[in-house]
Amino acid sequence: MEIVPSLLSADFARLTEEIRAVESAGAKRLHLDVMDGHFVPNITIGPFIVEAIRRVTNLHLETHLMITNPEKYIEPFINAGSDTIIVHIESGGSLKDDFAAIRKGSAKAGLVINPPTAFAEIEPYLKFVDHLLVMTVNPGFGGQKMIKAALEKVILAKPYSKKYGFPIEIDGGVNTETVNDAKEVGTDLIVAGSAVFSGGNSYRNYRLLTEILYRE
Ligand code: DX5
Ligand code: ZN
Repeated sequence: MEIVPSLLSADFARLTEEIRAVESAGAKRLHLDVMDGHFVPNITIGPFIVEAIRRVTNLHLETHLMITNPEKYIEPFINAGSDTIIVHIESGGSLKDDFAAIRKGSAKAGLVINPPTAFAEIEPYLKFVDHLLVMTVNPGFGGQKMIKAALEKVILAKPYSKKYGFPIEIDGGVNTETVNDAKEVGTDLIVAGSAVFSGGNSYRNYRLLTEILYRE
């Protein structure tokens, strides 16, 4: 189990410092939220910023693509230094082609499912994934309340995760109160944005979430 900081809520004017803080707190991966103002209402970062982040850290970079036509941008995000690329089942297009393009660039292929989408939709693809992300908020913004019903998908995905060896991650609404809900269902990777980066002490916030996670 591990907390994965989402830079969405970081102070982008002090990005290197924010990254150093979570690195020294023990983070092994960073979660990068890419939004196009079309697939979701918000706009965030593109390959240019991912490349800048790559230059200041060796952490594993997982890039969560909340965009339409993800196939157009897989290569630029891999060239920018992404280690894992995560595409939405809801983005349409051919997931098999997306996964092939991701692997061609030697990155890991991730699949993500929104809260309203049924688990059955992703089931046929689980034998092909390197990473599964279960959204516990509707994507677009940080700081939303966790939709706990979505955690059931972690339980449903567990046998596949064991069989095929991919980690299960959740994204959205994780804080000191809800992190145990993620733990209870057996989540491997737990994304946290606002709970890590708001309040000005990302080091302490990261440590606190990790402590709660490992508390008996
Ligand atoms: C939301 C993003 C998340 C976001 C989570 O659409 O995919 O990664 O950063 O933020 P919190 O942890 O604040 O819910
Ligand atoms: Zn995300």
